Amino acid sequence: MVASATQWRPQDGVDDVQAWIADQTSREVLRFITCGSVDDGKSTLIGRLLYDSRSVLDDQMATLEADSKRIGTQGGALDFALLVDGLAAEREQGITIDVAYRYFFTAHRGFIAADTPGHEQYTRNMATGASTADAAVILIDARKGVLTQTRRHSFIVSLMGVKRVLLAVNKMDLIGFDRARFEAIVADYRAFAERIGLEVTAVPVSGLNGDNIAASSANTPWFDGPSLIGWLETVPIDRDGALDGPFRMPVQWVNRPNADFRGFSGLIVSGAVRPGDRVRIEPSGRTTTVARIVTRDGDLDQARADQSVTLTLSDETDCARGDVIVTADDPPQVADQFECDLVWMAEAPLLPGRAYGLKIGTRTVLAQIMDIKHRIDPDTLQPLAARELGLNDIGRCTLSLDRPIPFDPYEVAPDMGGFILTDRQTAGTLGAGMIRFALRRSQNVHWQALDVTPAARARALGQAPGVIWLTGLSGAGKSTIANLVEKRLHAEGRATFLLDGDNLRHGLNRDLGFSEADRVENIRRVTEVAHLMTEAGLIVLTAFISPFRAERRAARDRFAEGAFLEVFVDAPLSVVEARDPKGLYAKARAGRLANFTGIDSPYERPEAADLVIDAVATSPEAAAEAIVAAIRDRGWLAPPSHD
Ligand code: ADX
Repeated sequence: MVASATQWRPQDGVDDVQAWIADQTSREVLRFITCGSVDDGKSTLIGRLLYDSRSVLDDQMATLEADSKRIGTQGGALDFALLVDGLAAEREQGITIDVAYRYFFTAHRGFIAADTPGHEQYTRNMATGASTADAAVILIDARKGVLTQTRRHSFIVSLMGVKRVLLAVNKMDLIGFDRARFEAIVADYRAFAERIGLEVTAVPVSGLNGDNIAASSANTPWFDGPSLIGWLETVPIDRDGALDGPFRMPVQWVNRPNADFRGFSGLIVSGAVRPGDRVRIEPSGRTTTVARIVTRDGDLDQARADQSVTLTLSDETDCARGDVIVTADDPPQVADQFECDLVWMAEAPLLPGRAYGLKIGTRTVLAQIMDIKHRIDPDTLQPLAARELGLNDIGRCTLSLDRPIPFDPYEVAPDMGGFILTDRQTAGTLGAGMIRFALRRSQNVHWQALDVTPAARARALGQAPGVIWLTGLSGAGKSTIANLVEKRLHAEGRATFLLDGDNLRHGLNRDLGFSEADRVENIRRVTEVAHLMTEAGLIVLTAFISPFRAERRAARDRFAEGAFLEVFVDAPLSVVEARDPKGLYAKARAGRLANFTGIDSPYERPEAADLVIDAVATSPEAAAEAIVAAIRDRGWLAPPSHD
């Protein structure tokens, strides 16, 4: 049995293992996911599946047995980890999720079962397993019936493209193999599953005793459906979509062993390719021709979906890791705004406006959720209004990227339309998403080139524009210091503007409160306004609490290197609370003001501010002096160089 960490889209691993099994046994391989809630007997059922199928293992397992004895870690018992560990090096950096893959065989098929271990049945494990599954086994405890969790899992499974489900109504022995109870549960489940397009086969089982696992049970004479293994052996496998689809190969790495050879390596996720085929490199759209298909075992005259190959091209076309090589006859769309479905898998909520990493294929870009259209109630499938998505929530969103990417809708090509969202600091996985379509506005709104450039405006003003970003607790002195800095710059004849938290909340941001989501949006808008102002040539000061690292980082990233000065106005809570210039701390302590920063809403201290001002020991005048000196040092007050 294998417990391994793998990627959300563990195509490399699972495909390689699948190829291995197919080679060893020349049998077709079914990939399925098992989903259940805590304590409904999933482990027992999987153990039973392995045990019951072991009896029909043939001698081709001998190789693995011998290897397990020789170099295994299971004391000589079968060590399937041998299959998986070899793939560890191919795993992508950082993006790991726990899913256990278990492998077993019967006379008819090989099986890869994706199991989601652990007590916490987090949806992220589910989405990981479901993304590569041909079918799903959904477990229900016969004593409990259909639970919210059952519905949620079913919905995710269907979103990820699984169409066929076996409903295993387990622990039938504990309800005396009660036919009426079984049928009631099945009717309840079917009513739900049909609405999300799942094709359901239901089987009454006992994982513990083996009823209807490998063969029909004498305890259910009234049941004339298949056994669990019987179903697994015969359920249709549709992988033709990928084989029949247009050619797509995300480039995993550029293989350049010497000056004479340049090949592009990756897994073909859809379609087929031959030498001489006309291809495009996306997103650049350049076209060229495939020269050779190189593998370790020599050149091929054709390669198709599920194969890992190296392509060489007939000319020196630019092509890098993250690009996708596609057929020139049927290229994917390229866009930077989408509607998508999202499964959120993190404790911290998904907040519109926050920047996340988005990994699609072999490419990583920056993404912001623009709008949550709705969240789905897993019980009723009703869309509900939502301003954020919490752990395990499923929602429909619009999303915008920092650059265009090639894609196909997930429904058409899961490998070209499935993505994960990651935390920019930790690179941990936060959510899984499926692209539905590109927003039309992203296709129809074009960038208008202007003759008077930001550089020209800056030259006219004789300064190098930039942003002085003050952050700190309410009452730390940000506004006071910013005001003094602006006065000094103005007196020198500089063109400036001061964006102040309280002031903007009277106008542009008057629709925003102090929830996490609203603060994220507040800072996003401020960042955009400050950006426009620097394009106008101004030196901009901002005075906002800006309590979250993620938004301060996103703000920094919006500006050129050296044109952003983060100033931490550092004052301990005890000091600002004693000052309490607006009486707000007192109100918050008295429970008359919720979500107050420092009291019941967090302030994340900057880790690498450009300037830290000790607001207790430093007078506002001295602080202003230090800031002006810092920007003078950085050359903001000198006429910009011509570029
Ligand atoms: S931020 O967190 O979104 O950056 P911003 O700087 O715009 O906040 O606004 C902070 C100012 O709003 C504070 O200086 C204070 O005067 C006022 N305020 C009102 N309610 C709150 C609250 N719950 N938390 C923090 N500041 C608040």
